[in-house]
Amino acid sequence: MKLLSGLMAITLWFGSCVTVWAADPIVIKFSHVVATDTPKGKAAEKFRELAARYTQDRVKVEVYPNSQLYKDKEELEALQMGAVQMLAPSLAKFGPLGVKEFEAFDLPFIFDNYEDLHKVTQGTVGQKLLNKLESKGILGLAYWDNGFKQMSANKPLLQPQDFQGLKLRIQSSKVLEAQMRSMGAVPQVMSFSEVYQALQTGVVDGTENPMSNFYTQKMHEVQKHLTLSSHGYLGYAVIVNKAFWDGLADDLRQPLTKAMQESTLYANQIALEENEKSLEAVRASGKTEIQTLTAEQRLAWKRAMVKVHQQMEDRIGKELIQSIYQATGLDPAKL
Ligand code: LMR
Repeated sequence: MKLLSGLMAITLWFGSCVTVWAADPIVIKFSHVVATDTPKGKAAEKFRELAARYTQDRVKVEVYPNSQLYKDKEELEALQMGAVQMLAPSLAKFGPLGVKEFEAFDLPFIFDNYEDLHKVTQGTVGQKLLNKLESKGILGLAYWDNGFKQMSANKPLLQPQDFQGLKLRIQSSKVLEAQMRSMGAVPQVMSFSEVYQALQTGVVDGTENPMSNFYTQKMHEVQKHLTLSSHGYLGYAVIVNKAFWDGLADDLRQPLTKAMQESTLYANQIALEENEKSLEAVRASGKTEIQTLTAEQRLAWKRAMVKVHQQMEDRIGKELIQSIYQATGLDPAKL
């Protein structure tokens, strides 16, 4: 009798394990707007793999690239409503959500290189900015790099006067709007998914992007010139729906946090290389002429654009801008 009940107990225990392991995985829908073959696209795939491995398939990340599910503005609304659980919008796209401070990252010439940038994204200033998302029902998990933006059009852009009257597509950031106006251009906010067609049909004359976005969206087919200006930075905040994340059991949130940390290292390792590869691919295509700026021309761009730092103090906060200068050691007077 004892033996029989023991056997039954083992069977029941085994059965319940099977039930646990056979339960449907928790799904994280991760929507983004760029191609899979970009720093963000590859890092999202890395997170998918690591999340499955570290949770032993109890969490399934479904990645939806290329605005397949949502365009720029819609994806933030979808996250807040819980229709998707994870996004990585560019830092230039948080203004419409009411967190305009991220636009500090758009200030022209505020970062000279990735090292300076990381002093902000990996330091206290970056963390304080992520904390601002919580009141919107969003948690910021990490910063992922893309890289420095280059300016493109159908004419060479070498001097500030070359921008006069050009219609240039921008992301939804007031800082970028001011930046384009500082050069005499007319900024036009547009979703990323619409840029190729707008360039092709002449709805806009040009745009700015890191090389990986430029190449994977085939913008080299519709832009005759590109200037290696690296005048500003484009990167991402990886964000989740807070209620979803807080509702996860600890034994899932911990491995997911580990997966995110490793994906972040990976994202930031590959970003520069991906952009360099894309630059070479554009060069090899022979479709877009690559322009480089002389020291003098670059200085003229800086002088025209840097006034945006002061213009935007009221919007972003003088203190925040100063804390970025402090972290990077930038002296705007010396620009
Ligand atoms: C853009 O809209 O140009 C970028 O934010 C796209 C992206 O996500 O890199």
